[in-house]
Amino acid sequence: MIQIRDIEMGFGGVRALSKLTVDLDDTIVGVIGPNGAGKTTLLNVLNGFLRPQAGSITAFGQDLLALAPHRRAHWGLRRTFQNEQVVDDMSLWDNVAVMLDTVRLARTARNDQVQAAIHFVGLSGNEQRLGRSLNAFERRMAEIARAVVGTPRLILMDEPGAGLSPQESGILRAVITSIPVQFGAMVVLIDHDVQLIAATCAKTAVLDFGTLIAYGPTDHVLKDSRVKAAYLGEEVV
Ligand SMILES: Nc1ncnc2c1ncn2[C@@H]1O[C@H](COP(=O)(O)OP(=O)(O)OP(=O)(O)O)[C@@H](O)[C@H]1O
Ligand SMILES: [Mg+2]
Repeated sequence: MIQIRDIEMGFGGVRALSKLTVDLDDTIVGVIGPNGAGKTTLLNVLNGFLRPQAGSITAFGQDLLALAPHRRAHWGLRRTFQNEQVVDDMSLWDNVAVMLDTVRLARTARNDQVQAAIHFVGLSGNEQRLGRSLNAFERRMAEIARAVVGTPRLILMDEPGAGLSPQESGILRAVITSIPVQFGAMVVLIDHDVQLIAATCAKTAVLDFGTLIAYGPTDHVLKDSRVKAAYLGEEVV
């Protein structure tokens, strides 16, 4: 459960988030909205890339804004990026293992966790391939392995479905749905693919111009007239 209260995040004259208040209270929660709605900004505030001008955020009882970004990572906050961050010159194994660098772990436990994360995303057998040799889908899955390795509590995903084929998107769906079961972590998922959101997220928040225009069960939210209007750029009736 993430309690977001009155978050203000502005860049000069642009108010990317305005009095944003919502309780994200399910295991997989979607965040949707038109381009520029503030979705990535919200993830940047959650993981500490950005410090909001006002407001508070509590995640499972922890005051998130009181923790420096590296403390949030240590606490169990993970993130995948709109432009994935797989390192070309490192093997798949090292791309995942590096996430455990700051965690005290016995060598065998570390190896087991890296192996489990790579297996979870379906990339077993590719451990020694360099990042640069992975195709776009494998890179996307490698980034998810980086997010789940160890003991994540909260995983933020920014458009993991972008550019995938229908078959790849199906695999991604299954992987996302399994995260809470396998790793016990909550997922906050941003995507423009409404079918991916509908298939994976019990609840969804909708942002438009930095404000919350809807939150609730995904099927209800997708039928909401304000949500449809925001996507079509029409006046709310
Ligand atoms: N670092 C920044 N400096 C200035 N303006 C920014 C910055 N980051 C975001 N913005 C602005 O804040 C608003 C929200 O941007 P954000 O990237 O959060 O949108 P988004 O919902 O993720 O959009 P998209 O679907 O296109 O990824 C936009 O108007 C954007 O131009
Ligand atoms: Mg974005």
